[in-house]
Amino acid sequence: MKQFLPTLVLFLLALCARANALDGIVPRPMQIEQHKGSLHVRGITVRCDPAFDARTRDAVSTFAAKLGYISGKTCTFSAPLGLKQALAGGKLKGIVFLHDTSLEPEAYTLLVTPSNAVVRACGLNGVLYALATLRQMLPAAIYGDSIAEKEHWTLPCCAISDKPRFAWRGMHLDSSRHFWSVEEVKRYLDVMAMYKLNRFHWHLTDDQGWRIEILSYPLLSQISCWREGTMVGRDFSSNDHIRYGGFYTQDEIREVVDYAAARGITVVPEVDLPGHMLAAMAAYPELGCTGGPYAAWTIWGVSDQVLCAGKESTFRFLEAVLSEVADLFPGEYIHIGGDECPKTEWEKCPDCQAKIRELGLHGDAHFSAEQYLQNYVTKRIQDFLATKGKKVIGWDEILEGELAPGATVMSWRGTAGAKQAAAHGFDAILAPTSHCYFDYLQSEDSASEPLGFNGVVTLEKIYSLDPLEGIAPEQAHHILGVQANLWTEYISTPEHLEYMLLPRLLALAEVQWCQEGLRDIGRFRRTLAEHEFPVLRQAGYNFREQLTNF
Ligand code: ACM
Ligand code: ZN
Repeated sequence: MKQFLPTLVLFLLALCARANALDGIVPRPMQIEQHKGSLHVRGITVRCDPAFDARTRDAVSTFAAKLGYISGKTCTFSAPLGLKQALAGGKLKGIVFLHDTSLEPEAYTLLVTPSNAVVRACGLNGVLYALATLRQMLPAAIYGDSIAEKEHWTLPCCAISDKPRFAWRGMHLDSSRHFWSVEEVKRYLDVMAMYKLNRFHWHLTDDQGWRIEILSYPLLSQISCWREGTMVGRDFSSNDHIRYGGFYTQDEIREVVDYAAARGITVVPEVDLPGHMLAAMAAYPELGCTGGPYAAWTIWGVSDQVLCAGKESTFRFLEAVLSEVADLFPGEYIHIGGDECPKTEWEKCPDCQAKIRELGLHGDAHFSAEQYLQNYVTKRIQDFLATKGKKVIGWDEILEGELAPGATVMSWRGTAGAKQAAAHGFDAILAPTSHCYFDYLQSEDSASEPLGFNGVVTLEKIYSLDPLEGIAPEQAHHILGVQANLWTEYISTPEHLEYMLLPRLLALAEVQWCQEGLRDIGRFRRTLAEHEFPVLRQAGYNFREQLTNF
């Protein structure tokens, strides 16, 4: 027994290590079966089917290089012909990536045996998700930069079959209220990719700063990208008197779009209109009803000063801007905002009132003529973007009045907007403040939290979101997915930004990815503590480490 005991302990430890490695996969895969044994991966050969495109092969070879480096023994990468035949012949060792067109675009399977690991996917996204899963089964050192040859470099034998529940797995970032460098945006995309998110909603314009270079309106990146100071904390009467600004050149935008694409993420730009346009109006005052002067806002909130919907020059501006935006972002959607557009200026403006008469718009028991004027703006922009091959998304205010077919609604004021949209045949994305606003505090104990919006969204709250609750089964296909929003009024440093994002992003990822019935908050919290916090630490992210809410 004395000799047997250490062996038994080692065996039990190895068993635990295997079980733990599989527990570390977030979001939880659709099907996961643990088998006996493990595959040693130090110095393993990585083979990729040449039928995959160059970007997919690059992702696999980058993984092989990193695994080789961190585990201290080179992993050779190759993309040879005849992989399927060699596998069928039972001769193939190593980690093998096979092109399998029978799988859906975001699905993958992974079979690990003591002699090889075989991934099957039909393209980039499936392969990226398999790679993300493989990394989560390895020591957390794989996320760092230092050689860690002493770690236990094995994969537990298992069979995984996985695919996402929702097609739209989004995360938003407000670059207007505070500006984030390209490097910071890339770190944001990296952590999104780690947890299999696939849409980056980039809020690029707002009252407090315009952040995208537009060649046909150069003053946007000379004047509109600056504001003369910022309110301090929650004091709306204050100003720190520090000139604040920044913008992305078109080359930088292309760099981010490409970086995201290599990680399976589509960038969805937002040009918020016709409200939230004060910064643009500061440079081009003719865009407003009164002609200004205007200045980019130094406080947060909703400005009454919005684009004039009565002047053709406003539409010339929007079409020029959106043409450049459509060229820069290859995705099928452009977000056109539409939220929080007060109508006080339009009620007084001769041009807006003339437009209302020209269009024959009338108020009714539910909506004002000015509301129908906003519908006209939305529809006109929607039609224009259709000529560029793009579809529009708008915040749920676009449902007020009369929404033209084909628009997608992002439901932020609760989930009612999504329900209404789906019931009327519109696609919708859930991003309710109650569960998905990551600018809200992470805990009820506001004194222990950094500055944020005056609301609370705990980890448990986001985890509890039931995306199809209240949606009729025959309308469920209209719910494209779920997204969280990170507005940055109160967030000015990358450390604070990451803290607000993490670990809530991981809870969001499970809501977006996990098949119905697979979420379990107890398991999730254990997984965070045992696996994901070490991973986030290794990857150098700042995150909220307490798993309590008070
Ligand atoms: C929003 O939070 N105003 C969409
Ligand atoms: Zn007007």
